[in-house]
Amino acid sequence: MTNLSEDTPINGIHRRDLLGSGIALSVGAAAALGATALPARAQGSETATGGNVSGTRRLGSLEVSPIGMGCMSMAPGFYNPAPEPQDMVRVLRNAHELGITFFDTAEVYGPFISERIAGEALEPIRDEVVIGTKFGFSFNENGGYAGRNSQPAHIKQAVEGMLERLRTDRIDLLYLHRMDPNTPIEDIAGAVGDLIREGKVLEFGVSEVSPEILRGAHALTPVAAVQSEYSVFERLPEVAMFENCEELGVSFVPWGPVMRGLTTDHLNEYSRFDGDRRATVPFFAPDALVTNMEVVRLLRRWADGKGVTQAQISLAWMLAQKPYIVPIPGTTKLHHARENFEARNVSFTSSELARFNEEFDALPIAGNRPESAAFESQ
Ligand SMILES: NC(=O)c1ccc[n+]([C@@H]2O[C@H](COP(=O)([O-])OP(=O)(O)OC[C@H]3O[C@@H](n4cnc5c(N)ncnc54)[C@H](OP(=O)(O)O)[C@@H]3O)[C@@H](O)[C@H]2O)c1
Repeated sequence: MTNLSEDTPINGIHRRDLLGSGIALSVGAAAALGATALPARAQGSETATGGNVSGTRRLGSLEVSPIGMGCMSMAPGFYNPAPEPQDMVRVLRNAHELGITFFDTAEVYGPFISERIAGEALEPIRDEVVIGTKFGFSFNENGGYAGRNSQPAHIKQAVEGMLERLRTDRIDLLYLHRMDPNTPIEDIAGAVGDLIREGKVLEFGVSEVSPEILRGAHALTPVAAVQSEYSVFERLPEVAMFENCEELGVSFVPWGPVMRGLTTDHLNEYSRFDGDRRATVPFFAPDALVTNMEVVRLLRRWADGKGVTQAQISLAWMLAQKPYIVPIPGTTKLHHARENFEARNVSFTSSELARFNEEFDALPIAGNRPESAAFESQ
């Protein structure tokens, strides 16, 4: 297990600042913008808009199910006791049978454990799925975290390991996981460009980066997707990233789309997270949980109104925001994967989005990252 926090803050813009900015926090307005501003490389084959999504979405040249699946917590050290790898192999194969075709992993999850599970699970169905993975770190001989590293030679070496663990001849979507402050983005994008020319990588992604880094990367090697935290609780991408995605034709892949379980009906104000990654996340501190239950209750009212679950409302809301958003809810359970994937059939009209937003805006949120951490070391 590494000591790297996947929840390292990238930003700390408070919700009040988002509201104060007057940009993009009107969900109805955001949906309206999404309807008119569809990046060419992010177009999919949807047959409906407004959250009722029966087709596919695009990440550059890749066509994917509108909701993917995160494989991070299949490795130990995240939100649950270490699951049995063979159980996870079965979960992933069954998730594919449901229609999920986009799977997200990273070298650092384990490290290497999540990629190995995904590799074993997806090998027999390799040509039917899209696999995203991420580089950006060094590890010592015991597998311990040894710092950020995106030197070109290191990226190329990391990809050789990924290809072996994922049992494949190409990485569909290779992300820079976190910016390496010691390596210029041009060098990183250049190395990924080389890997694309060699056929080892199909598309380039960046994760948790600032708009400037996205633009620097895209200028050299076209970026297919940005992956950042985004959920009903964490709205920074609405002001910091969506307009850049629209201008550049880059898709957006939200991680933490059900806020690590907080938007589902599985947690409440009495939940505690000893030995769990969430113990270090301010949204889950005991006092913050009490405050944040207001938003959870809002989700519950909407879920009851539509006869669906809270997780489904959270994901349907997200799909309705923009046609180029492809969330990757993480789960170790097939019934959660099924529930999450069904969210593509939950519709959210633009007037419903506006009403949801109005109700949401009246509620407090506790645990937003400190302002001083905004785009820290990205
Ligand atoms: N780029 C990055 O820096 C970054 C950072 C973190 C994560 N990620 C990626 O994004 C993926 C998703 O993010 P995440 O896992 O941090 O957060 P998440 O998807 O918001 O939440 C995952 C948590 O929610 C629970 N959950 C999921 N669906 C549920 C449902 N329908 N009902 C009840 N509980 C449910 C899961 O538990 P169960 O296992 O019990 O379902 C797990 O504890 C990860 O798997 C990873 O691939 C990327």
